Amino acid sequence: MPKAELHMHIEGSLEPELIFALARRNSVEIPYADVEALRRAYAFTNLQSFLDIYYAGASVLLTEQDFYDMAWAYLERAAADNVWRTEMFFDPQTHTERGVDMRTVIDGLHRACVDAEVKLGVSAALIMCFLRHLSEQKAFETLEQALPYRDKFIGVGLDSGEVGNPPERFERVFARCRELGLHLVAHAGEEGPPAYVWSALDVLKVERVDHGVQSAKDPALMKRLAQDRIPLTVCPLSNLKLCVFPDLGQHNLGALLDAGLVATVNSDDPAYFGGYMNENFVQTFAATGLTAQQAWQLAANSFEGSFIEAAAKARYIDRLNETFAQFE
Ligand code: ADE
Ligand code: ZN
Repeated sequence: MPKAELHMHIEGSLEPELIFALARRNSVEIPYADVEALRRAYAFTNLQSFLDIYYAGASVLLTEQDFYDMAWAYLERAAADNVWRTEMFFDPQTHTERGVDMRTVIDGLHRACVDAEVKLGVSAALIMCFLRHLSEQKAFETLEQALPYRDKFIGVGLDSGEVGNPPERFERVFARCRELGLHLVAHAGEEGPPAYVWSALDVLKVERVDHGVQSAKDPALMKRLAQDRIPLTVCPLSNLKLCVFPDLGQHNLGALLDAGLVATVNSDDPAYFGGYMNENFVQTFAATGLTAQQAWQLAANSFEGSFIEAAAKARYIDRLNETFAQFE
């Protein structure tokens, strides 16, 4: 099934094998004996327990080629899963705080995006995330460092530890990004309450909500998301591995679709959560009994929710419909 991926952190696509290869190439020490020992550490209890390992894994990235190699490995996986469009998050502060130049990060990732279009037929774009456990002042400094490369990313997002770091802490930097014509998204309602989703919408003025699954606790919020057709970029295997839902059978993706929300399926950090796009679909459908019609809806939502221009969206959805027509 053709589809778009709207929520994946490129640093979360670093497979343990690549972490070790880059650690060797760059003479970086990592506190795990081997690939198996690192994989064994992937037993998470919540978002923060994952983030600690995720930031440690990203410490092996130093050169432009490292960023290229990481993105290229993901883009090949995405192409194999019939992802036609991907909007990839990157966390520059994880790298600039270690002394890596913004140019190194963006140039490496962007070169992979350009090659993906030519060599894989995948349309790929970048969204720069601010780390919400750091200050708004740091986010402003990050934006300043990135502006010379403004043509190489399409929007900004907000990620890292959610609870205790509500969206309104970043009101001014998001307002500035809006003036600059950047697309706006934010993680909200992953572990945090519906109030964080409201403030992502009303204070940050985001166009999409990343995760947003906690919105189901607030009927007025559900109505607002449906009426304004705000896409939710849901990540089922991530929610399972970070214990947001006790098992996939209890995931609320079906309820979000039934409520008329523009919900989508995404991989978040596929190297850490046990699967890329198709694996997220296969496991979720096996566990929940979602229908073929809902699979079509999720794929159509992914193109609708993407930041590609309207004509390209319509073309993608036409081709999606042709694919489904073969099975009728
Ligand atoms: N950074 C990488 N993955 C994330 C997630 N699921 N939530 C918040 N920040 C993240
Ligand atoms: Zn995420």
